Amino acid sequence: MTSPNVTPYGTPPPASPVATRKPVSLPRLNDMRERGEKITMLTAYDATFAAVADAAGVDCLLVGDSLGMVCQGLTSTVGVSLDTMRYHTESVVRGIQRVQGTPWIIGDLPFGTYQESREQALRSASVLMQAGAHMVKLEGGGWTTETVRFLVERGVPVCAHLGLTPQTVHSLGGYRFQGRGDSADKLLQEALALQDAGASMLVLEMVPATLSAELTLALPRCHTIGIGAGDGTAGQVLVMHDMLGVNLGKNPKFVRNFMNGQHSVFEAMAAYVRAVKDGSFPDNALHAW
Ligand code: KIV
Repeated sequence: MTSPNVTPYGTPPPASPVATRKPVSLPRLNDMRERGEKITMLTAYDATFAAVADAAGVDCLLVGDSLGMVCQGLTSTVGVSLDTMRYHTESVVRGIQRVQGTPWIIGDLPFGTYQESREQALRSASVLMQAGAHMVKLEGGGWTTETVRFLVERGVPVCAHLGLTPQTVHSLGGYRFQGRGDSADKLLQEALALQDAGASMLVLEMVPATLSAELTLALPRCHTIGIGAGDGTAGQVLVMHDMLGVNLGKNPKFVRNFMNGQHSVFEAMAAYVRAVKDGSFPDNALHAW
């Protein structure tokens, strides 16, 4: 009889939790948080890589609008359309259905598809939910709070995104660290308001490790997922191409190339899962702050 551990891509290493995994859901993410188990997330854009990530034990897959940069060759995420996000979300969902169907799928609402009104946000979210996403992500704080509340009240789980918000790169003046000095308190207030509005996840991108650790303690009902935000968050996310060392530009300092020492994408993703779960990634010493 075939071992239940075996996937089309190989047998997960013993430390991988994949063998005993059930489909990830919001209650399951809450349980992980309560047990102190770190949440693992990677971006995914197509069926094959999504299937490998599922087999390797990744808890959550973000169909990020970073696909504009890594798949379409754009210089920012601003040009990504909702129809493109729908296409990639459907592809990722079909991919995980070919393996274990385990990961929680987050669809990114692209620029210009939720800013106009709460109703516009609901229409856009419906496109991604009907494509198979379990949750949608939108960027920013303050004005987004009422949009988040509107979506959550209507049955759409929401992941917020604070710190470096790539869709507003032109307003921010570049891909820079956020949340230093006086802006830290503003970010804290925005995060508390988003939790209050019902956001159950919050990506924190390129903010000081001390701030993201503080936010994580302040947000028991909203799971913080860090990217370049230190090791104090409830989970971690990386852009898949970055952690495989195949991006078009220079990797940010906080990224680790998980292909180093591995023989396959599957092994690299399993190594990422192990490193996040055992706390060996990220390494705060590698951060500029
Ligand atoms: O689009 C994306 O991939 C993201 C991550 C950088 C968190 O938003």
